[in-house]
Amino acid sequence: MISKQLVKKAVIPAAGLGTRFLPATKAVPKELLPIVDVPTIQIIAEEIARAGIETVILITGRGKSAIEDHFDVHLDLENKLLREGKTELAQRLQETSNIVQIVSVRQQSPRGLGDAVLCARDIIGDEPFVVLLGDDLVDSSVPCTKQMIDVYNKHQKSVVALMEVPPDEISKFGICGGKTISEREIELDIMVEKPAEQDAPSNLAIVGRYILTPRIFELLEQTQPGKAGEIQLTDAMSRLMKEQGFIGYKFQGNRYDAGDRFGYLQANIAYALKRPDIAPKLIDYMRRIVSERS
Ligand code: G1P
Repeated sequence: MISKQLVKKAVIPAAGLGTRFLPATKAVPKELLPIVDVPTIQIIAEEIARAGIETVILITGRGKSAIEDHFDVHLDLENKLLREGKTELAQRLQETSNIVQIVSVRQQSPRGLGDAVLCARDIIGDEPFVVLLGDDLVDSSVPCTKQMIDVYNKHQKSVVALMEVPPDEISKFGICGGKTISEREIELDIMVEKPAEQDAPSNLAIVGRYILTPRIFELLEQTQPGKAGEIQLTDAMSRLMKEQGFIGYKFQGNRYDAGDRFGYLQANIAYALKRPDIAPKLIDYMRRIVSERS
């Protein structure tokens, strides 16, 4: 039986080595690279908080302790800023430590996304939970996580966020197929991790937002290394789908791959354009450089 419980906890796997972004990530966790002036992981934490979830389980590894510091209170700095009359900045700093409650667990060796999620088992217990991958930023008026919780509550089945991708990008994603049940919902019947273009069941790619029932932990425990020799979350999800059903959800919003160099630049521009303190200057600048180049 699937538990009819509320989604109260989120997992952020953050143990990856960030090799796609070297040399920037040699000493700095990729999760702390800023989008304008906010680290990507803070944007993810804010999405979680806006969806009404207060507890985040951070799966970390060696060299990632700066992430915990980022969400911790920094009293000395706050007091210094207050003494200097920089009240607004002090307040922003305070807010950072109040976004969510962070519990961290270390993944002993990088054995893949499935293994990272399994590390959260003892803290999650017997409840459904959200997984958010830090590279995937989704900018939307209703947080993507909230949209997915609504879908979970409606169907009482695990949910994965999907988006259509061009054929040449299929092999970079988990790909799903199934039967359309509403404008944005698909009852899934197949999931494959990074198939070749010609073997893909569709062009619907998994984006890094999942709601999973706790049965996933037992399935993950039984999952053998798959693609790239890693314990793949998609492989365990495929078994969960066959046992309990799984909904694919075409979310509303714009997704940026902040783990890719070009995607990171796009995210910076998109988020900067939402900032009244920066947007007008940025638009002027972009107009100027475009006209200089044409
Ligand atoms: C992971 C998942 C993949 C998913 C992707 C989304 O892959 O394994 O199924 O489509 O995230 O970003 P990764 O990009 O970590 O290799």
